[in-house]
Amino acid sequence: MEHKCELIAYWLMGKDLCEQVIDDYRNINRIIEAIRSIEDNPKYPNVGRFSHPNEDGNIQLDAAWMEGDNRVGAVIETSHIVNPIEVAYSLSGLNQNNILCADGADRYALKSGYKTSEKLEVCKADIEKKSHDTFGVISLVDGHFSLGITTSGRKGKTLGRVGDTPLIGSGFYCEDGIGAAILTGDGEACLRSVMAKEAVDRLMLGENIEGLAKKVLERGLSKLDYKTELAIIVVDKNGCFDAASTFEVFPYSFINNGVMYNRYLYKDEEYEQDKKLHELYHGD
Ligand code: GLY
Repeated sequence: MEHKCELIAYWLMGKDLCEQVIDDYRNINRIIEAIRSIEDNPKYPNVGRFSHPNEDGNIQLDAAWMEGDNRVGAVIETSHIVNPIEVAYSLSGLNQNNILCADGADRYALKSGYKTSEKLEVCKADIEKKSHDTFGVISLVDGHFSLGITTSGRKGKTLGRVGDTPLIGSGFYCEDGIGAAILTGDGEACLRSVMAKEAVDRLMLGENIEGLAKKVLERGLSKLDYKTELAIIVVDKNGCFDAASTFEVFPYSFINNGVMYNRYLYKDEEYEQDKKLHELYHGD
């Protein structure tokens, strides 16, 4: 099994992204464009418009973008932004107002010319399983990390609830010369343990990438008095990666030297069950 990547992304959305960018995967604009298409795709009920609504029947989206040179941008609980990832990316280029929430995020998007909608359309399918998944991708180009992460959060969430996805250190973290991490799953469990930052800190302190994801996940889970579903991908400065998950199946895809690989935990083989996995995770 190949353990090095230049780009890595999880769930079957990761495969979708890798296929879209394979001919130009070092280009950040192409990655943003591919995330946008995932946010726009009604077959993904946990990301972007057409996803699970909150308790009031409204969509509230979170997204973040981070660069390994300490730039970060995020939008939290936005109800009108069509593609939260591109607004998060735009905010990561600023020195102030990097994280905007709710009406403030929506107003910034409108004023800055990003696509907004009076009411984002909700997911039509009633999918009971996997109600708090996220889409995330890490890119490593010439030693420079970039990452993007986007979600509609927990299905039926309380108005104003914030999960891990837009919170630096919880759902994501990266630092050039050290490493990067992204999480998916139970947002409260992720944010309470700040696992993305812990993973990168462990790399900074010299821990080996091999087995690191499992150690971080197990430590976070050990603090909970309940079982839950979580997954983490960690990449070191050389592109070596490690992943761990408590999901029944956790698919991820990566690109190295122009070649795309599809994998799923915990089977050490290339998966050929896209249809079955798709049914399991996306209900179609
Ligand atoms: N991990 C996404 C959320 O729970 O909000």
